[in-house]
Amino acid sequence: MDIKNQIDKNKLPVHVAVIMDGNGRWAKKKGNKRVFGHRNGVKAVKNIVEAAGEIGIKYLTLYAFSTENWNRPKTEVEALMSLFISAVKNETENLIKNNVRLKAIGNLNLLPEKVLKNLNEIIDKTKNNTGLTLILALSYSARAEITNAVKTIAQKAAKGELNPENITDKTVSKHLYTGEFPDPELLIRTSGEYRISNFLLWQISYTELYFTNILWPDFSKNDLFEAIIDFQKRERRFGKTSEQLK
Ligand code: IPE
Ligand code: IPE
Ligand code: MG
Repeated sequence: MDIKNQIDKNKLPVHVAVIMDGNGRWAKKKGNKRVFGHRNGVKAVKNIVEAAGEIGIKYLTLYAFSTENWNRPKTEVEALMSLFISAVKNETENLIKNNVRLKAIGNLNLLPEKVLKNLNEIIDKTKNNTGLTLILALSYSARAEITNAVKTIAQKAAKGELNPENITDKTVSKHLYTGEFPDPELLIRTSGEYRISNFLLWQISYTELYFTNILWPDFSKNDLFEAIIDFQKRERRFGKTSEQLK
């Protein structure tokens, strides 16, 4: 039986998030420049978006560029920005055809105007699609996201629009960039690094973590399916005992 058929459609994670890491090392192993890795990383993105749609995942969040990544060499940052533009342009038709709704989270104002313009265009064109919601984390920092939420909540409290007594964890969730999305159930990180790198810190409180040594450009549809099968074998206890769940 192929891997895809082993997935239990009744136990699918609604939201999968991915830290797409290892492009640079993949290129280096092949004796190529880092940007060659990024270009091939885009191909892996295409596959994974397709695979997520095929099995009926509702939300897929991809960590494409962190706030910290702005500190990379200028040439690499510029190459990545051009790649975002070309990927968004080349994929527009496919996303529409596949009923994908595109969203973006992060400090998007830091992106070059051209990237932001292209991104907003396709977000607008796909806004009524009802299939997979694809969320790109771009210029994203979880700490900045939480800090922004705190600031907005404090401002509302100062204006009397919100009573501090009524602030709950839901209030915080709603004020994050991800306010309209459910928390991810599964987080995948490629490339053999065991860290979160400032990604979705609040949202992953109870997320299942899955680490693989595969470098991002090599990450295939079957690798996604395997991660989901692994997820489906886990017992999510949310603090309770195993017996309580029976
Ligand atoms: C992930 O691959 C892509 C981005 C962070 C933009 P890296 O570029 O981090 O590749 P490695 O980790 O150096 O191999
Ligand atoms: C995390 O990868 C960010 C993205 C995948 C976009 P990094 O390569 O930037 O993370 P660190 O520096 O290894 O933690
Ligand atoms: Mg990396």
